[in-house]
Amino acid sequence: MSSIAFLGAGNIAQAIMGGLLGSGGLSGNEGHKLFAFDPVDACREAASDIGATISGSNREAIEQAEVVMLCVKPSVVPALVEAEAASLKDKLTISVAAGITTETILGQLGPDAAVVRCMPNTPALVKTGMTALFATSGVSDAQKQLAQGILSAVGETLWVRDESALDAVTAVSGSGPAYFFMMMEAMIAAAEAEGLDAETARQLVLQTALGASTMAHASDESPAQLRINVTSPGGTTQAALETFEALGLPDTVRKAVNAARIRSEELSQS
Ligand SMILES: NC(=O)c1ccc[n+]([C@@H]2O[C@H](COP(=O)([O-])OP(=O)(O)OC[C@H]3O[C@@H](n4cnc5c(N)ncnc54)[C@H](OP(=O)(O)O)[C@@H]3O)[C@@H](O)[C@H]2O)c1
Repeated sequence: MSSIAFLGAGNIAQAIMGGLLGSGGLSGNEGHKLFAFDPVDACREAASDIGATISGSNREAIEQAEVVMLCVKPSVVPALVEAEAASLKDKLTISVAAGITTETILGQLGPDAAVVRCMPNTPALVKTGMTALFATSGVSDAQKQLAQGILSAVGETLWVRDESALDAVTAVSGSGPAYFFMMMEAMIAAAEAEGLDAETARQLVLQTALGASTMAHASDESPAQLRINVTSPGGTTQAALETFEALGLPDTVRKAVNAARIRSEELSQS
């Protein structure tokens, strides 16, 4: 059991709190004591409904907890950490803020502070998130386990050893849901262009995306092998895949992910 303070109780904080306390939680860690502060009434009410204790200020929330989750917008993090540095110094601080480096946070808390930076993605809101985590040298093994347990409440987790890998993570799993949404959007439009009605197109595409992802998860075979397995020579799938290849889909995806990684680096440095 651990006590966790959420500074900011918006979308991602509510998702994590719900995962930790809700019946559908994935973490299996029962008995967490959660505290939350947010200036927005609706966020405080939502956090209270989930089961968190609402604190009167960020400071009060921090003082009641051993772990502090920074769940505010990235632009708010530097000033918040500066204002609360004295009370954060001895806690495990976990930041979910995109693009805010641990250097920025350690600059306020001192080089030995225990800070975990993580990059969740939007499907965390429906407990199928993918979160990559990075720990500074001041984080103990027990604290790493604690951090991983918390983020496991909203999906899968993995650790990166090098913080700069979080830029590539952002380009793959952070922005990735939008790439799949775009593919779904294009397939729905294509289905309609072939004469199917909008609702039929939507149902066919969404269930096919879910089925393909579930199969890839369940199988020991690579996505490349699964593709080969479902492609009969001279058949319909081959006709489509040859068109994707001829029009350069793999190269386009590589360039798109590269552009996202470069943009993530730029945003972290600004
Ligand atoms: N949503 C996602 O799927 C997702 C995925 C990956 C990473 N993240 C990261 O998660 C963080 C939060 O994102 P979100 O989508 O949850 O944002 P959000 O819904 O806007 O929640 C942030 C909350 O923090 C409040 N806040 C502002 N200043 C505060 C302060 N000084 N102390 C306490 N609370 C304060 C905001 O109030 P106001 O509205 O009044 O400012 C807002 O209610 C961001 O840094 C983002 O990069 C989110």
